[in-house]
Amino acid sequence: MLIYFTLNGDLVEWEVQPSETLLSVLRRQGMFGVKYGGCTKGECGACTVLIDKKPVNSCTTLAAQVTGHQIETIEAMGQHPDQGWKKTSGLHPIQQALVESRAIQCGYCTPAFALAARALIDRNPNPSESEVREAISGVLCRCTGYIKPVQAILRAAAVMRGESVPPILGTPESEAPVWPIGTLPEVNSPLGGDTWPETTSQTQVMPKIWTSQAAREKPRTKIGRPEIKVDAIKLVQGKPAFSADIEKRGMLVAKVLHSPLAHAMIKSIDLTAARELPGVAAVLCYQDVPRVIYSTAGQSDPIPGPLDAFSLDRKVRFVGDRVAFVAAETDEIAEQALKLIKVEYEELPAIIDSRQSMQPDAVRIHDEPEYVNFADSNPAKNLAAEIRIDIGDVEKGFAEADRIYEEEYAVPKVQQAHIEPHVVVTYWDEDDRLVVRTSTQVPFHARRILAPVLGLPVKRIRVIKPRIGGGFGAKQEVLIEDVAAHLTIATGRPVIYETTREEEFTASRSRHPMRVRLKTGVKLDGTITANAMYALSDTGAYGCHALTVTGNTGHKAMALYVGDGPYRLSPNIRFYADVVYTNTPPAGAYRGYGVPQGFWPLERHIEHICRDLRLDSIDFRLKNTLRSGELHPFSTAWSEGREPVPEIVHTVGLEECVRQAKAAIGWDQKYPNTAWHQVEGKPHLRRGIGVATVMQGTAIPYLDMGGASIKMNDDGSFNLLIGATDLGTGSDTVLAQMAAEVLGVEVDDILVYSSDTDFTPFDKGAYASSTTYISGAAVVKASEMAAERIKARAAKLINRQAAGEEVVGDDILLEDNQARTLDGRFVSLKDIALNALHHDDQEQIMGIGSYYSPVSPPPFAAQFAEVTVDIETGKVVVDRLVMAVDSGIIVNPLTASGQIEGGMTQALGYAVCEEMVYDGKGRAREVDLNEYHIFRADEMPALETIFVQTYEPSHPFGVKAVAEIPMDGVAPAVGNAILDACGAEVLENPATPERVWRALKRVNQ
Ligand code: FES
Ligand code: FES
Repeated sequence: MLIYFTLNGDLVEWEVQPSETLLSVLRRQGMFGVKYGGCTKGECGACTVLIDKKPVNSCTTLAAQVTGHQIETIEAMGQHPDQGWKKTSGLHPIQQALVESRAIQCGYCTPAFALAARALIDRNPNPSESEVREAISGVLCRCTGYIKPVQAILRAAAVMRGESVPPILGTPESEAPVWPIGTLPEVNSPLGGDTWPETTSQTQVMPKIWTSQAAREKPRTKIGRPEIKVDAIKLVQGKPAFSADIEKRGMLVAKVLHSPLAHAMIKSIDLTAARELPGVAAVLCYQDVPRVIYSTAGQSDPIPGPLDAFSLDRKVRFVGDRVAFVAAETDEIAEQALKLIKVEYEELPAIIDSRQSMQPDAVRIHDEPEYVNFADSNPAKNLAAEIRIDIGDVEKGFAEADRIYEEEYAVPKVQQAHIEPHVVVTYWDEDDRLVVRTSTQVPFHARRILAPVLGLPVKRIRVIKPRIGGGFGAKQEVLIEDVAAHLTIATGRPVIYETTREEEFTASRSRHPMRVRLKTGVKLDGTITANAMYALSDTGAYGCHALTVTGNTGHKAMALYVGDGPYRLSPNIRFYADVVYTNTPPAGAYRGYGVPQGFWPLERHIEHICRDLRLDSIDFRLKNTLRSGELHPFSTAWSEGREPVPEIVHTVGLEECVRQAKAAIGWDQKYPNTAWHQVEGKPHLRRGIGVATVMQGTAIPYLDMGGASIKMNDDGSFNLLIGATDLGTGSDTVLAQMAAEVLGVEVDDILVYSSDTDFTPFDKGAYASSTTYISGAAVVKASEMAAERIKARAAKLINRQAAGEEVVGDDILLEDNQARTLDGRFVSLKDIALNALHHDDQEQIMGIGSYYSPVSPPPFAAQFAEVTVDIETGKVVVDRLVMAVDSGIIVNPLTASGQIEGGMTQALGYAVCEEMVYDGKGRAREVDLNEYHIFRADEMPALETIFVQTYEPSHPFGVKAVAEIPMDGVAPAVGNAILDACGAEVLENPATPERVWRALKRVNQ
């Protein structure tokens, strides 16, 4: 049918199918700023467009419905001001504010935020914070925690009203190392009244920063600056930056037929009718593709886990497992073809509860002869991994204790819920090499893992990683690339495979759920004498990341409490775990990588001990936690299946973190104050405050490796090529800052390209909080190599051109785009570049560097939470989260605080509402973002981030990791705050109203 409407001011007439959505039609016509969030029910808002100035989800709007209406997309909102000889009016003030306020992380939600904000400001030029939050509540963001987008919109509104707004750039360093108590505005509980102050002018987004003396002694010009993200301008315009934003002639659409049964053999499969359907190009089942066993975990070689997966198999092991692949001309034809595939299954007994997996009579989930063990995996016992770590003498420690505390806890399976689904495009290039354009965190691992699965040598595969719309670990998996690749091999044509939100819940990866038993020996003075954890970890149907995720549960969480006095010198710690197979969707990597599963029980347990012994819970923690100069206790015992190497922890800013966060939240005024715990006029409400202390790691020692190369251009700018993958974290920007610092140029003189296995150096990818530390050190090495050549040439030019003492390269400083001597002579980098490339003894000035680390310096943090509990219903509202983080030197305070705010928000879901549940047949209860609730802008508590800057000596700029640690402390701090509010001891996470209500019943019995 023919439809006509006004699109961004122009009248258009398009031919569409009656059933086509507006989203599909707009994207087909090149409006790639309209994003697909995998929804079928309009859950995420990524596809927002304005219809007659109102924000509408284009995925639930039929194209036919918009005839005669006005449609606006991000493409017409504003553009880069400088288009060569043509100047434009530039970005729209809303886009400008989103860029300036650093409100863009992965940028997948950004066009929708911009359009929703525009609709709001058009009808209400002076919105309050509550109104902004309400207006963008239909757009889900999994990265930011909404603080910066909200502040950006308030800022834009102020600018559009003609008001002046304060500059965002300022000195990030605070001269006052401790802030007075009560500097935050009081926020009433949503249960108690207003949720947000009626702010109309608060447009500041800088976090507080406390800096140690050691860190102050290393002043820098680009490190520590809140530079604008290098990809912000393109993302705010909705440019075609993501994997799916590509047009390829003849591109087919891929779909997957998933198993309806949790455990079954395929008795027969008939593809005839599907293959005969007009418009179907290929249908593949296990009989059509090579039977190659592999692991989907995107990890280094050798993969530290069992090989237990096939692209397609005769056996299915969970509801959602793959049965067949289809490639067709359109989505609709592919869907129809799936329905025509006839499968007869022989159903097998299924294991849904991990406690049944190791029973002697349990059905065996992996009985394939090709199975390859790693370490202590044992498919005959449904065991994907077994971990036994003993440090010191735990039994002796228990014998020396005055009290022994034992308890069992449970943590749930949760979903990464990145807003951009998994997406891949594959095609043959002109050299018959397979190009895989994919939203991956691990392009180099993907290439290596795909090669045998596809029957291609590594050298005939090229993996391109465009921008990524969030991943949080779920894209540290070779999950979908083989689907499209097999279909491209079968058809010779380009293929796109984008997962739906339902597939994300039923066939992607998730966080390992665990049952954790803790046993702790304590002396009456609060000294921990021994600490033991046993974890029963559920890896689901496949063992991807089974060993390493669960190893981290002990390695990072149990390392924090070493004890005091003689126990500090020789701690007694035990960590045992069994990682078992079940017939549920596989678990995998999720930001935090096993550590949130450890800290929730541990910090709840510590709180329980403190209260029972009537000891101050903060003093107790600091008495027993690891300190600077001490041995990381696990470094002598475990290293992800490799040989452990003892490691001293040099920087521990935990005490300062506690001091700062405690003051910011007003702990001393609230915790001991009975009146504060009551809510005036609301006897059914109680307030509570809780704390958790946590640590993480920074990269995997002796394993993670990053590479970088940098080359100088004619104008003195540089191309920085990195294999590191920025999945929205801002790593491209902080790596550019490091290069700019070494080379003495502005950040926008560094043109970052990441990543493409043909052009960029190897990098193990974005995981383990390693990019700033590992890839950053590689960038520094590459930049220093280039800087050396620049200085040598500068010395020659200066000696030739200007009178004065003869200089050598070592006498030269690089700053302000110049090479300078101490006596004031200089030559510009542009002149050096022209000289090197065109004039004199020509050379390409460039540098390469790679780095791996012998250590993994842990970041530390203190997390505080304030809650209000309804003791009649068990409903918990989290009112405030304050986190103080020691991540070493902060390269970019705004990208880093964005990481903390977004991480705390994800962790907040883990604390109170996110959970994946299966029925007795292994069918998922949560299959969309309606059932699985992630926090919206209008539901958020107040968030505050404080950085405690130590100087980590193992890195050239003193950095440690920041990305994962915000996942660790929120849930236990919230659990502890609930206990403080009403005495409810919730032992199973998340603290849903039902669990809190049941715990309250136990208190009142
Ligand atoms: S709401 Fe339309 S794609 Fe999510
Ligand atoms: S920045 Fe919002 S989803 Fe990533």
